[in-house]
Amino acid sequence: MRMIKFKMDTSFFVILALVSSVFAGKHDIYSRHAVYGVELRDQDDVATLFNLQQKLNVDIWEHGMARVRDAEVMVSPEQSKEFFETLDNNGLKYYLKIEDVSKVLKEHEEDLAKWRRNRNNRMIFQDYPRYAEVNQYMEEIAARYPNLVTLVNAGKSFEGRDIKYLKISTTNFEDPRKPVYFMDGMMHAREWVTTPVTMYSIFRLVENLRDNERDLLEDIDWIILPIVNPDGYEFSHTDDRLWRRTRSVNLEVSTTCFGVDANRNFDVDFNTLGVSSDPCSQTYPGVAPFSEPETRIVRDILSKYLPRIQLYNNIHSHGNYVLFGFGNNTLTPNVAQLHHVAAAMGAAMDAVKLPEAGYYLIGNSGLVLYRTSGSAQDYGQHVGVPFSYTLELPGYGYDFRVPPSFIDHINEETWKGIAITARLSKIHYRSRTSRQ
Ligand SMILES: *[C@@H]1O[C@H](CO)[C@@H](O)[C@H](O)[C@H]1NC(C)=O
Ligand SMILES: [Zn+2]
Repeated sequence: MRMIKFKMDTSFFVILALVSSVFAGKHDIYSRHAVYGVELRDQDDVATLFNLQQKLNVDIWEHGMARVRDAEVMVSPEQSKEFFETLDNNGLKYYLKIEDVSKVLKEHEEDLAKWRRNRNNRMIFQDYPRYAEVNQYMEEIAARYPNLVTLVNAGKSFEGRDIKYLKISTTNFEDPRKPVYFMDGMMHAREWVTTPVTMYSIFRLVENLRDNERDLLEDIDWIILPIVNPDGYEFSHTDDRLWRRTRSVNLEVSTTCFGVDANRNFDVDFNTLGVSSDPCSQTYPGVAPFSEPETRIVRDILSKYLPRIQLYNNIHSHGNYVLFGFGNNTLTPNVAQLHHVAAAMGAAMDAVKLPEAGYYLIGNSGLVLYRTSGSAQDYGQHVGVPFSYTLELPGYGYDFRVPPSFIDHINEETWKGIAITARLSKIHYRSRTSRQ
């Protein structure tokens, strides 16, 4: 079997070193920003935290779950006074987790540079590849396996980057008896580990298919979109490691804050729950549904393949959750199946989990976490995908800064969840289509 090795020569590192010295101070925007763990006793505490996010724009890194998981909140020096007062007044307990975010971001960057220097012949999904490298890999795969893989250029991001996905099929997507499994990553820019997971899935299906997984390739058609939000992703490399949103500019709305939360920008109960009207907020949904070219591309994939998409897996990081609709706490008529498939996914991943990870929590996104509107997960469910999920990968206590040494494990573990849900999709798709 031929595999594409991902090699970087030394001149690349020289250039990288020069480039990184230019941006040496880029993490300073988070100087004296701290992260606090907050203990949540009940839904009132969850609400207190949510209101604090709305009012102060504190950046919630982990929403937590009452009595199960603590929340994690990044607080700037300007926000801290009111943050502490509100928590104290409501009797919430909190503790310092990260004293200076700029410092841990620098350490993370050094960790990545060291990882790159220390290993040769690394596969592209064993690292955090840049946008151009991901495209190059997809192009190479499509060129090498023309009977199996089609590269689709779906359109441009706000800043003009091509957003590309792969279609993987043994029958050129022409067999309507096969379900389509659609997964995407990197909707939120700082959630870096989501892209390696999508690329590893490409690898397992195309370059490294195991005998006992032939059915996954032969009985299912795949759409894999590794980077939904390339502008945000590149910006998170060059300027702001914690960037989450898109990078669209709308000067009538704001001259200082760019981008919207893509995962609030879909046309489903738009701008109703879990959003902020402040254009500088991490949960600002935009001026209108699908104001962003990036979300329109996901919408168009869903609509183009809708009758055959059995499962949409919208991949995020971090928290160990498999979530489903709707974000307003209303359950779908097929909730029993929706829950069963999600639980099978969680169990398959838990079976190989690292001791330092929590168990996957499964459930309705509003009931398990907090209420939202305009999410990709809800949109998929709303337009008729039977199983539409948000998958929050493990963070191992490192939040968005998952050390590169963990990527292999997350790739392998998540593939187990993807494989089992693909097989369940096949069964459910058959019974759905035979009824028609
Ligand atoms: C929740 O959202 C879904 C999807 O838009 C909708 O069908 C349902 O009616 C909503 N439920 C309530 C109580 O608003
Ligand atoms: Zn996310």
